[in-house]
Amino acid sequence: MSASKLRPVIASRKSFPPWMIILGVLGVLAILGLVIGLLVHFLAVENKIYYYQGSFKVLNIPYDRNYERETSLESNYLSKILEIKMVDAFESSNIYKQYINSQIITLVPENNSVTAHIWLVFKDPRSNQESLRRRIENILHQMLENNSGSLTTDPGSLKLTEITKVDAEKIINNRCGRRPRMSATYDRITGGSTAQKGEWPWQASLRVNGKHHCGASLIGERFLLTAAHCFQRTNNPKNLTVSFGTRVTPAYMQHYVEEVIIHEDYVKGQHHDDVAIIKLTEKVSFRNDVHRVCLPEATQVFPPGEGVVVTGWGSLYYNGKSPLLLQKASIKIIDTNACNSEEAYGGRIVDTMLCAGYMEGNVDACQGDSGGPLVHPNSRDIWYLVGIVSWGHECGRVNKPGVYMRVTSYRDWIASKTGI
Ligand code: ARG
Repeated sequence: MSASKLRPVIASRKSFPPWMIILGVLGVLAILGLVIGLLVHFLAVENKIYYYQGSFKVLNIPYDRNYERETSLESNYLSKILEIKMVDAFESSNIYKQYINSQIITLVPENNSVTAHIWLVFKDPRSNQESLRRRIENILHQMLENNSGSLTTDPGSLKLTEITKVDAEKIINNRCGRRPRMSATYDRITGGSTAQKGEWPWQASLRVNGKHHCGASLIGERFLLTAAHCFQRTNNPKNLTVSFGTRVTPAYMQHYVEEVIIHEDYVKGQHHDDVAIIKLTEKVSFRNDVHRVCLPEATQVFPPGEGVVVTGWGSLYYNGKSPLLLQKASIKIIDTNACNSEEAYGGRIVDTMLCAGYMEGNVDACQGDSGGPLVHPNSRDIWYLVGIVSWGHECGRVNKPGVYMRVTSYRDWIASKTGI
């Protein structure tokens, strides 16, 4: 193609005066702004979110202090029954479209009863708040009246009050193992976006001289659990910091370390008792994207085949690059005997360790993930720490799954050091 043929085309483009282009662009921007504004306005107004807090009594339950422990078998069992009752009641009611979520927050055992503290979320396009509250109260009242199951509930004990979003989130963030993913779901309704932010709020980055070195899990306001081998280079609190969030650099919420408690039986260069506790100088204030994971009871069992998730900023493959954003991998608990087979780890897995991943390889933790969490959601979608990333032969190799410290084996040790 010759140059002379192109020239007229270029010339004709130039004939648009600049003011016309500016005006056109401004016009388009104005319309776009109006549309977005209206959309946000209507979506937000149409789905206003309401939060409630309340309580009711379950009668004829002999006093059992296990109900005071949020992670006990008894608490989870009774809470699950009551949560199913609530979901059924709301989903078969005439306000099922407004219903979003209901949970048991705490159980308080008394002489011959248990008081259940509840937490509810609804959406409603109308602004008559008191009428919605009363309708919810009526449904709960009816639910408590018909004692179809083995439980006797007291409708007269029912209390229900509306609370602010801030207070509602505070209640959830003070409990262990809950994710604000629920809140992300209803954020989406109000037109927000669902980020991966807050998906693993207990995940921490242990930093040596400001650089990511290991993973760790927040288990209390001032305590984290990690691997002992993370302190091979240094366990001097002066060199250590802890941060949270999904992006490793720059550090999000820097915290200082007061003390590192390494398991007494850990031996450098060996793999057993690879557990340590980090005590922070100050309390972490829990928020949607930073709060603690639940610790399982010492007696709890996590059978082979159970789905678990490992998270961390470790390298993407053996000797490979490290990611900037937190990574997650869904894996499965592997039977210890299978993991001890000749092709696998040939008897090196002791009963305080746990294998997780796939014998086929590919999905695994890797260097830099050490100390980080291996978690499992219970039937109420509350997340428990089952393992601490410890070791493995390279990463994602066939017959060489990741090896984790079994948290239940160290549950009493953790309690003795932290009171948790
Ligand atoms: N020891 C490694 C670290 O210090 C992590 C080991 C995990 N390896 C594995 N294949 N799962 O980060």
